[in-house]
Amino acid sequence: MSGKNIPNHLFKALAEREQKGMLRKLTTNYPSIDFCSNDYLGFSKLGLLSKKLETSNLKQETVYGSTGSRLISGNSTFVEEAEKQIALFHHASSALIFNSGYDANLGLLSSVPQKDDLVLFDELIHASLYDGIRLGHATHYKFKHNNIDALKDLIQRHQHNFKNIYVVVESVYSMDGDLAPLLEITELLKIQENVFLIVDEAHAIGVFGNQGRGLCNALGIEKKCFARIYTYGKAMGCHGAAIVGDELLSNYLINFSRSFIYTTALPNHSVNAILNAYQLLIETNQKDVLQNNISYFYSKTNTIKALIKSQSAIHSLVVGSNNKADLMEKKLALKNIYAKAIKSPTVKEGTERVRFCIHAFNTKQETDLLIEQIQSTL
Ligand SMILES: Cc1ncc(COP(=O)(O)O)c(C=O)c1O
Repeated sequence: MSGKNIPNHLFKALAEREQKGMLRKLTTNYPSIDFCSNDYLGFSKLGLLSKKLETSNLKQETVYGSTGSRLISGNSTFVEEAEKQIALFHHASSALIFNSGYDANLGLLSSVPQKDDLVLFDELIHASLYDGIRLGHATHYKFKHNNIDALKDLIQRHQHNFKNIYVVVESVYSMDGDLAPLLEITELLKIQENVFLIVDEAHAIGVFGNQGRGLCNALGIEKKCFARIYTYGKAMGCHGAAIVGDELLSNYLINFSRSFIYTTALPNHSVNAILNAYQLLIETNQKDVLQNNISYFYSKTNTIKALIKSQSAIHSLVVGSNNKADLMEKKLALKNIYAKAIKSPTVKEGTERVRFCIHAFNTKQETDLLIEQIQSTL
């Protein structure tokens, strides 16, 4: 098929994807037992956040749009106050809100590292971090996933050839669910001059640390990071993100980060949702409920070799092909379980998997049913 107003390569690319079993499709038809969403604490699904917002001071606000970018007409004392509270919560001097985690990572990595700098990144970092690095002008090399020796080797080899080195990791990896060896990384970086650590805490906020402050908090290394990224679309059940660090970093981003500058700001009701999600972290024990559910799942499955070892909410069963991942997703759907096939090219060929996200709201019966299904495919 081809159309008059559509370039031919669009048809070709989609047909090729379809043929390889790689075609991405949107769906609205989700099986009811959720082992898929990033709503780890149930702030969204359980209605905890919407209930909380009903009693919020901003409830009556009728203005929906922010009317402009932060530097034009979209700023307010409300968002600035929110950023102060976020910074305080994460023990930093400053926080800057972005419209999404994708925007935050793109804006940070494309603007901070310069032409004479080096970016060293874990090979499994999220696309948003990688896209930011690619947009920037620094030299960049990846290192083997979670391999501290490989990182050390790269630093030693290149340290004297570059002005600054940025090390980019995720505290919890979004596809494997495993944790970065942050203590070892900060120990390694402490003796290095001009090496700066950037940690994406997208899947750690709400899951680890005191009142869900993240893994850097749990490990006591918040102050050792140059920048930390907290996203609000996952455990926090809403939307947006913040980059947390020194005030100078925020000022730099306000001046040079294009995904901050050239976009309409989040409206106050979105910022209000973020603040209320932080309140829920403090007021509820959903994090403990989640941790119990993760421990239960782990205790029943830790002998399964194909499951990547993980202490986080994310657990992946590597099945090794797109076809097998699709089949498993369908088989689970027949039992009403929603878990997603994660296929190549999103993950490396041969590591195609089905990813299970554990939530505070998953019942023991649901988890047992999932485990039974996993075991029956081995
Ligand atoms: C590690 C990581 N960072 C950043 C993002 C992007 O965050 P957002 O969904 O808020 O754009 C994601 C989302 O999938 C992620 O997994």
